[in-house]
Parts: sequence; C-alpha cells; structure tokens
Amino acid sequence: MSERAAELRKFLAVAIEAAREAGAIVRAGFDQPKQVMYKGEVDLVTETDKKSEAAIVARLRKEFPDHGIVAEEGGGGAGGERARYVWYVDPLDGTTNFAHGFPMFAVSIGLLEEGRPIVAAVLNPVSEELFSAQEGAGAYLNEKQIKVSQVQTLSKALLATGFPTHKRTSNPNIRYYWEFTLRSHGVRRAGSAALDLCSVASGRFDGFWEFGLKSWDTAAGMLIVREAGGKISSFAGEEYKPGDKELFASNGLIHEEMKNIAQEIASQPPALNPVS
Ligand code: IPD
Ligand code: CA
Ligand code: CA
Repeated sequence: MSERAAELRKFLAVAIEAAREAGAIVRAGFDQPKQVMYKGEVDLVTETDKKSEAAIVARLRKEFPDHGIVAEEGGGGAGGERARYVWYVDPLDGTTNFAHGFPMFAVSIGLLEEGRPIVAAVLNPVSEELFSAQEGAGAYLNEKQIKVSQVQTLSKALLATGFPTHKRTSNPNIRYYWEFTLRSHGVRRAGSAALDLCSVASGRFDGFWEFGLKSWDTAAGMLIVREAGGKISSFAGEEYKPGDKELFASNGLIHEEMKNIAQEIASQPPALNPVS
C-alpha cells in the first residue's frame, strides 16, 4: 500500500471511530428526556449535540493535533478552516428530529485537504447504518459498496430537500418543493441533510437539493455521493464547495433536468404563491 493510501486509511479509521463514539452518546441521549435550547426561532440544540461534539473534537485533537476543526457548536475553536487538513463536524445532524423522537439523525464527520474532501463518515446511531468514503476508494454502507441509482428521468425519480432553520420566511424553497413534487415521484423532507446525501449515494433518492446548508452539513455527504458515482454541484452546475449557498446532488443522470427546472423556477416571478 502506498504511503498516501495508508495515510487516508488512517484518517478514515479515526473518522469512523469518532463517529461511533459520538453515535453511542447520541443513541443514549435519544432514550432520555431532552432539554431543548434554542439558537434561533426554530434552531434547536440539546446537551447531546454538545456532548457528541466534545467527544469528536477530543478524539480528533488527540490523533491529529495540527489539523483544523470546524464544528457546528463551536467546540473546534476559531480559525480551524485555515489549516491544510480541516475536519468538518456536525455532532448531530437532524436535531429537530432527535428532539421530537423521530429516529432520523446522524453524526457527520468529513475531512478536507486544501478544500478537497478526502474522507467521510456519516452514522445513523439508531439504524446503525454507517456510510463512509475515502477519495478514490468508493463509498460504503457498513461493509457493502454503494452506488447511485440508474433512474434516467425526473418523472420517475424520488427526490429530497430540506428547509433551513433560520430565515425560513425569506427562503424560496417552497416554490421548488411545489414544482419538483408535481414533476417526480415525490419529494421527501426527512430532516437530516447528511443522511439525505447518503440516500442519494445509496440509490434510495435519485436527487436532493437545498439552500443555505453549512459546511458541516455537507462535507462528509458530498464525498460519499461522489464516490458512489453521483454528481454534486451548484444550481448553475458549477463545482460545489461546502458552505456554498445552494446545492444539487443527484445520480448524475437527472442532473441536467433538475438544473433546467430550477432555472425555470428561478425565472418565475417571486410573488408566485402555490397555496393560494
Ligand atoms: C439541519 C438538517 C436539516 C436541514 C437544515 C439543517 P441540524 O441540521 O440537516 O435537514 O434541512 O438546513 O440545518 O441543525 O439538525 O444540524
Ligand atoms: Ca446539520
Ligand atoms: Ca447539528
């Protein structure tokens, strides 16, 4: 094995260990009464988010003291994104689901080298599904290699989206939700962007889009999609970088169609109100 391959394998092993440690914390917290705090009008956070993050950050710091860490609840400290290797950590993606007892949430850990995703681990601690990927080595669901779907057209596709917890009223997504629902087998809103991306990677969904996701929501999932043979871009088809304001992920085959429809929707007057 080359030195590079051994290095990537070590990064992945640590990402998986950290995800499992944090997953045990999240799983235990799921069975307990939850004290919910608010970061915004509907932006929830619990003690479990913080405990999970502390465990991941401690593990990454111990193994890689010179790597940067960008973690949602701030545990990575400031300036982490300036390092050559940067870990993006969402200690609990799907906190709203977690707080309501809906078992669709994940621990998401992605490593970027100079902006390029190289290692990813996303764990749903309830279903015990671990999605992982290493640059150039494919994407896996537990031990099994995964691939995106072969669905060729939007009219036969199952899609997913999400809505941000902040600036909800100024978000245009309801119009996209409406249009894509009418033109596909339907649009799911499962509440964890990291798992939505993994569902595209494993062929459960054929496409996914969302506005306003953060770097920690997508850093891991984007590599898993790519390594499963899928495509990820901006709405205009440009290269997607974690933290960009809009994201399209798909099996690649319906990407152009999704993009064209998004452009059509964007060109309609913003006053359009689908529910009136
Ligand atoms: C949220 C989830 C959700 C997405 C929101 C995210 P959080 O992350 O990924 O699916 O629609 O935009 O903020 O807050 O539960 O980590
Ligand atoms: Ca998140
Ligand atoms: Ca989170």
